[in-house]
Amino acid sequence: MQGDKVIRVLDKEFVVSFTEEEIRKEIRRVAAEINADYEGREVIFLAVLNGSFMFAADLLREIRVPCEISFVKFASYRGTCSTGCVREVMGLDVDIAGRPVIVLEDIVDSGLTMLHVLETLREREPASIDVCTLLLKPERLQAALDVRYCCKRIPADFIVGYGLDYDGYGRELRDIYTLRQEQSVN
Ligand code: IMP
Ligand code: MG
Repeated sequence: MQGDKVIRVLDKEFVVSFTEEEIRKEIRRVAAEINADYEGREVIFLAVLNGSFMFAADLLREIRVPCEISFVKFASYRGTCSTGCVREVMGLDVDIAGRPVIVLEDIVDSGLTMLHVLETLREREPASIDVCTLLLKPERLQAALDVRYCCKRIPADFIVGYGLDYDGYGRELRDIYTLRQEQSVN
């Protein structure tokens, strides 16, 4: 639309979709759900790097139940499994056995990454695992995934900003932007 904020990241143009105020409002809503559901319990948040760093920081400021947070990264084995196969968890420095876990993700697209993340974490026998994602593309979902907490459902477009990147860039943007229609990201 004319007048919409357009920005450039590398070779692509993006249009603003959600402002930081809109994002903040949805995060408060989801945090209130978590505060209600986990009342009287202690929770451990595992934020999946890199994309979820900004979301995790803002969500945690709204959490009112006793909690810990740790940041994890998953290594994929491209050589031995098909693409997107993540097996190894890096940086999990807390014992999650017998404890309720909430995994924080920036975006669930096909859901395959999250499926493998959950598989890997289950091996460590937490009491429960819930998924909390900033964004979800329901039309793209290929996996039977139970996403308990979701800030925004979005169309199957490529987005950038608020922690999400295009080829490593754009994570610092305060708002969320969508790739302009006439372009594509391979
Ligand atoms: P999935 O395995 O297809 O669900 O993809 C998950 C990962 O792909 C996310 O954690 C993101 O890193 C990346 N991703 C998916 N969609 C987008 C997008 O629109 N913008 C930026 N990264 C994305
Ligand atoms: Mg991610």
